[in-house]
Amino acid sequence: MTESQAADVSSVEAVTTALTKHGYLPDEGLATAIFLAMTLRRPLLLEGEAGVGKTEVAKVLAAWTGGELIRLQCYEGIDAAQAVYDWDYARQLLHLRAAEASGEAEARTSDALEADLYQERFLVKRALLRAIEPRLQPPVLLIDEIDRADDEFEAYLLEVLSDWQVTIPELGVVRADTPPLVILTSNRTRDVHDALKRRCLYHWVEHPSFEREVAIVHLRLPEVSGALARQVAAAVEALRSLNLYKAPGVAETIDWAAALGRLGVTQLDEQSVATTLGTVLKYREDHERVEQHGFADIVKRALDRK
Ligand SMILES: Nc1ncnc2c1ncn2[C@@H]1O[C@H](COP(=O)(O)OP(=O)(O)OP(=O)(O)O)[C@@H](O)[C@H]1O
Ligand SMILES: [Mg+2]
Repeated sequence: MTESQAADVSSVEAVTTALTKHGYLPDEGLATAIFLAMTLRRPLLLEGEAGVGKTEVAKVLAAWTGGELIRLQCYEGIDAAQAVYDWDYARQLLHLRAAEASGEAEARTSDALEADLYQERFLVKRALLRAIEPRLQPPVLLIDEIDRADDEFEAYLLEVLSDWQVTIPELGVVRADTPPLVILTSNRTRDVHDALKRRCLYHWVEHPSFEREVAIVHLRLPEVSGALARQVAAAVEALRSLNLYKAPGVAETIDWAAALGRLGVTQLDEQSVATTLGTVLKYREDHERVEQHGFADIVKRALDRK
């Protein structure tokens, strides 16, 4: 039995339990979306602010199911040669030189020589091709930050995600036996097209609730005291309400708690907030905004939070 058959996807609760065991605490909406994506075998598009835990979902799913994590990081200008496959020109050239040197090149027709160059061993397999190659264990394909890619690439992706196949003119068609589990993420710097959305299930990932964020800090940083974890989560909650340019994500909450713990802080005060703010807020304007608002209020809200 493969590990993915062993992964218990019998219910939303089973998914929640498995993700929790692997260090990820989803809320019910996200756990339901993951459950449906896994059971219906549909790609899942996760949108949300930076640092809410979108990318981590794919990593945790790979760890849970035992499928290889194949990551395609999108960027402006990404194209099929970087996402699907390319030919290794340097090795092809070396092969030709070697054929020339050995005298083999003269003995063979140029067509035969050329055909030699398009063998699988000269193929550079990129993420999408690797994700649909037949294999024992379906991988987890993470298509990260799809909003950074161009429209043309999105259209291409749509084709692959519909047919689960790629045609390599020189070699033939590669088709997945079992489609990979696909997680797409977007920070919504632009809207993903409807056609692609139609292929996917969709979930907007929110910042965690206060209690969940405390639990995440506990899980990630067992060495940080319960009281400090609560204060940090409450202070982050307060910061998020300030309409900052870049509100802190979960990653920043974890970093902040770790930094305070390392400095031996046991209770937040104005001084410790002021000196460690750089672990939470990464824009000067946001620092100024918090300073104007007053550290005292952040500390008060952190300590008063029930
Ligand atoms: N629900 C959660 N349970 C456990 N850890 C979480 C959770 N949500 C976020 N994290 C942690 O927060 C950090 C940031 O998560 P991640 O990188 O997935 O965010 P993201 O949404 O992809 O951000 P970005 O948009 O900046 O890429 C990771 O260390 C992740 O482990
Ligand atoms: Mg991410």
